[in-house]
Amino acid sequence: MSAKRILSILIAGDVHGFFSGLQEAIAHWSPDLVLQCGDFGYRPDLDMFPPERGFRDKQGRLVPVHFCDGNHDDYKSLRRLANAKLKACEIAPGVFYQPRGSILEFPGGFTILFAGGAAGVDKDAQTRRNASFPAEILSKEDFAVFPGLPSVDMVISHAAPACAVLPPALFSTDCPDPSRAVLDRVLRRYQPGLWFCGHYHLPFSGGLDRCIFRALDCAVDEWDKPQQAGLMLFKGIPIQV
Ligand SMILES: [Fe+2]
Repeated sequence: MSAKRILSILIAGDVHGFFSGLQEAIAHWSPDLVLQCGDFGYRPDLDMFPPERGFRDKQGRLVPVHFCDGNHDDYKSLRRLANAKLKACEIAPGVFYQPRGSILEFPGGFTILFAGGAAGVDKDAQTRRNASFPAEILSKEDFAVFPGLPSVDMVISHAAPACAVLPPALFSTDCPDPSRAVLDRVLRRYQPGLWFCGHYHLPFSGGLDRCIFRALDCAVDEWDKPQQAGLMLFKGIPIQV
């Protein structure tokens, strides 16, 4: 007879390439797994790679990290690596890029859908720097190849769905993000019970019917130190062992 175990998951907001801060958080919490909500900091063009040894807990065990893409990740390179497949792509030991529409399924059936992409708040500057700017937005074309599942248990995204209520501090940022309307469709189609995102560098929650929604602050500050408001230990994924 198989037994059940509850996995301990660390959910992390934007990392922006501050990998030693993320390592410090992982050593502190010792989770079974990390889910990261985009702006991980995958920028090989800037010589910023994840640690070659991956991320380790206090005992030195490898802790898998699964991230979706954000507007500060080199999406073109990630897309090339994923090669149009909706499958996890290991970019360093135990560090997995989860393409838009990919599913992480645990023994026992708990499912997580990844839906990266967002418009940068610095949209105009980004447009000038990078002619491929629209690729960072989660598009209707991305959504068209999402899997035909009736529902998922959790969504990890970079942006928030349009129905999520943004805090007043964000209303002044005049940067419409078409990704958010696509994420509304994700919500309607898959009806997740849990949803976590990053991107806004502010913690907030609420606005989604029948779904616990939380936007996280940056997981690591500019001094490469973990930030409590950007990290959440979630003990709620049952697996069969
Ligand atoms: Fe972002």
